[in-house]
Amino acid sequence: MEGGWPHQEGWLLCLLLSLLLQGSPTFTQSSNTFTINCSGFDVHGWNQTAFQPLFDRKAFRPVINISDPTRVNISFTLSAILKVDAQIQLLTSFIWLELFWDNPFISWNPEKCGGITELAVAADNLWLPDIFIVEFMDIDQTPSDLVAYVNSKGHIKYKKPMKVTSICNLDIFYFPFDQQNCTLTFSSFLYTVNHMLLGMDKEVWEITDTSRHLIQTQGEWQLLGINKATPKLVVGSSFYDQIMFYVAIQRRPRLYVINLLVPSGFLIAIDALSFFLPIESGNRAPFKMTLLLGYTVFLLMMNDLLPPSGTPVISVYFALSLSLMVVSLLEAIFLTYLLNLVTTQPPPMPHWLHSLLLRYLRATAGSKRSQKENGGPDPNPIHLPGLKEPGVKAGPAKAWLNGDPHSTWAQLEHQQKVDIWVKFSLALDTLLFCIYLIFMISSLITVIVLWIN
Ligand SMILES: *[C@@H]1O[C@H](CO)[C@@H](O)[C@H](O)[C@H]1NC(C)=O
Ligand SMILES: *[C@@H]1O[C@H](CO)[C@@H](O)[C@H](O)[C@H]1NC(C)=O
Ligand SMILES: *[C@@H]1O[C@H](CO)[C@@H](O)[C@H](O)[C@H]1NC(C)=O
Ligand SMILES: *[C@@H]1O[C@H](CO)[C@@H](O)[C@H](O)[C@H]1NC(C)=O
Repeated sequence: MEGGWPHQEGWLLCLLLSLLLQGSPTFTQSSNTFTINCSGFDVHGWNQTAFQPLFDRKAFRPVINISDPTRVNISFTLSAILKVDAQIQLLTSFIWLELFWDNPFISWNPEKCGGITELAVAADNLWLPDIFIVEFMDIDQTPSDLVAYVNSKGHIKYKKPMKVTSICNLDIFYFPFDQQNCTLTFSSFLYTVNHMLLGMDKEVWEITDTSRHLIQTQGEWQLLGINKATPKLVVGSSFYDQIMFYVAIQRRPRLYVINLLVPSGFLIAIDALSFFLPIESGNRAPFKMTLLLGYTVFLLMMNDLLPPSGTPVISVYFALSLSLMVVSLLEAIFLTYLLNLVTTQPPPMPHWLHSLLLRYLRATAGSKRSQKENGGPDPNPIHLPGLKEPGVKAGPAKAWLNGDPHSTWAQLEHQQKVDIWVKFSLALDTLLFCIYLIFMISSLITVIVLWIN
């Protein structure tokens, strides 16, 4: 008996299969056959059995002639720009995706069905187009139990919320005045143009307008505009329909201007002004050292605000500011050293330098004299509190009184040498300050021009 078992079962299975195959619907039926008989809708609530034949078809694309493409219209609303991560080049946004398509197997007569023209149906029971975003770089966390609206003519409206983490080519060169242009490409996974066509449900400016109104948050990013393009995607010999949306966003720079640019600008301005501290007083180098320390601490504290990767102009600007401060500190140290050297043991001055300096001094003296003649304030003579000036001044007179003309002449000559060296140092200081200013202003202008463009 045991040998007969599988035989009998196989036969039963064959019978069952053939019955099933005969009963299964075919696509050659005319569309009228699919009108839903809804008598009793308003009496018994929704009649599941009336819809069952429709629900059973959800595995297949709903078309009457298989060579007809399904037209899916797309729209979306950008409701938030959550995060822009320049390091991993990701834009996280939140959108409401809306899909519209026609299902020719759904139709009912609203007059016979209690005046009902639109029905919400659990989306699980319907065929859904497989529209995805090409740039999507995460797991789709869309809730699964969504509802679609179906109207009496078979027009289906399906909305789903999506947290979109999309890859985007982010360029932070102009940080914090940067704009980004991210692409969201909607396309079908599988259906080629022969089976699915994509269209727009709204004009792109309507999408932009509603999105702008919806993004009420005053976050870091601001929506500039949305553009679209509809190139076909070619893979081998098949064409896929796709719609690309270019989402342009702009950073609100206020936070960075207040926290980064303004303090840095102040520190640099103070550094430039500290050139007016007399070098002879010996205060300038410690002052600049303190400033440099302050700037370093500022940079350390504000490091979190800067983008973690790439080289934006602002980093170059900070590096430039820091190097300007270091250079000006070095200048102060050098001049202090020079002044100290020339007042204690002035080396002989090269002839060409001497004549150059004389010419320069004559020129400045001339301008001063003209200033005086014009009734301008009498500019103070160079006063060097750090030097033993009064003593030296008294020196020759005392020597003269002592009646030692030889030492007097030597001292006078020494004094003259010191004087001319001191004048040279001060002239050098002015010259270096001018170079510093020119460099600072030109680099500032360069940075600003880069930012404006
Ligand atoms: C619709 O179904 C009801 C019973 O539910 C039946 O009485 C009626 O004849 C059907 N109408 C059509 C057009 O099939
Ligand atoms: C389906 O459509 C194609 C082209 O539109 C047509 O040639 C074909 O006859 C149609 N098939 C049926 C069964 O209507
Ligand atoms: C899609 O949009 C086009 C043009 O706006 C319109 O003619 C068509 O009926 C729409 N189709 C669906 C399924 O919404
Ligand atoms: C964004 O980039 C695309 C091409 O990459 C371009 O067509 C579009 O105009 C750009 N949009 C903006 C606002 O710059």
